[in-house]
Amino acid sequence: MEKLVISGGTPLHGTIPISGAKNAALPLMCTCLLTEDKVTLENLPRLADITTLTDLLNHLGVTVTIEGGRGGMLTGRSLTFDAHTINDTVAPYDIVRKMRASILVLGPLVARMGEATVSLPGGCAIGNRPIDLHLKALEALGAKIEMEQGYVRATAAGGLKGGRVRFPFVSVGATENILMAAALAKGTTTIENAAREPEIVDLAKCLNAMGARITGAGHETITVEGVEKLHGCTHAVMPDRIEAGSYAVAALMTRGDLLLEGAKADDMQATLDTLTEAGGIVSVEDGSVRVKANGHVQGFNVVTQPFPGFATDMQAQFMALACVADGASVITEAIFENRFMHVSELTRLGANITVKGSTATVRGTQKLKGAPVMATDLRASMGLALAGLVAAGETTVNRLYHLDRGYERLEEKLKAVGARIERMPG
Ligand code: UD1
Repeated sequence: MEKLVISGGTPLHGTIPISGAKNAALPLMCTCLLTEDKVTLENLPRLADITTLTDLLNHLGVTVTIEGGRGGMLTGRSLTFDAHTINDTVAPYDIVRKMRASILVLGPLVARMGEATVSLPGGCAIGNRPIDLHLKALEALGAKIEMEQGYVRATAAGGLKGGRVRFPFVSVGATENILMAAALAKGTTTIENAAREPEIVDLAKCLNAMGARITGAGHETITVEGVEKLHGCTHAVMPDRIEAGSYAVAALMTRGDLLLEGAKADDMQATLDTLTEAGGIVSVEDGSVRVKANGHVQGFNVVTQPFPGFATDMQAQFMALACVADGASVITEAIFENRFMHVSELTRLGANITVKGSTATVRGTQKLKGAPVMATDLRASMGLALAGLVAAGETTVNRLYHLDRGYERLEEKLKAVGARIERMPG
């Protein structure tokens, strides 16, 4: 298993190009299941999760063509997905277990094929993460849901019918699944208490380019007028606001100055506001965001919330920042019940963190010291890598495969702005 070896203490200066967003790319790839035509996605990041979903789509009968790139692990920036013929409607356990987002094939498959069987994704490190909201929403559109041997089977013999879906709380994935399903349902669907994340807006934009009739994406209520057929399109994946936010934290933590090329400030306002509260200087420059340090970092308080609130996917990185701030910070995780696994690893680097329920109190110190640490999930890994960038001496982040799920060319991008970081065999 590969690992990252980081020698801390260098301020980062320069430009980091921001990749296409993983969390936008995954649902966008599933849109191809809704049409017999080709869907081309530009600006797709080169990530393990994209490969996993490509494998699943291949299994269902989708042909994927790389439109450029250097070969290897799907390095192409532009891929074409051709789901002209779907020859299997079962998403098997072997692929689904690798990535929870595989559940996103359920809505589009049942909408187009009238049936779909997807392995239950099971538990995951950051919490229980059930899929009940996805299933209830599909039932509201007339799907029959059955559970058999660890699989969920959805059927809609006469096709899905538009209906009213009201989510009891916000779910990004469930909103995406139902948005795709409703696009091909007969009649009108309203989705209330929908997720408002920028990735939802990007998905609706792509679906509308395919001929869907969706209004209200980005707001609490989304209306979808179902159409009989969707056609192909070419769509560019939005920039990754979590990747950009992670490097923004790196700029402040290392007391550096980074231009995040292509980052969209509107998509990451809560992150930028918290960076400003912590003492960073944030400016928007010609379609990019620049973050630089102002000499010191001060403590801050955050509570994770659905968009436009502070993103749970930025929590671990900001906890790393809090570890080196002046004074105390209070960080509350309100989305996932078990997303503090990085705490014990940060403590190994010398951090002072007390956790009570879903709230962590971090007392900053200037003296983190390098040590071997174990990554537990994607964003936790980034939090540990950030801590390694400022810790004295050498930090080894083991289980690099977590980072490869969500950060494209991480060590290459960080090296280019001055970090001393190497990928090593385990
Ligand atoms: C997506 C993101 C993930 C991010 C999360 C929250 C992708 C691929 N992943 O995950 O990076 O951390 O949004 O912003 O886009 N829940 C239920 N029942 C359901 C669905 C969700 O109880 O049927 C709960 C979850 O356990 C969690 C909360 O709802 O506590 C929010 O989860 P959700 O927004 O669905 O997250 P994902 O779509 O899985």
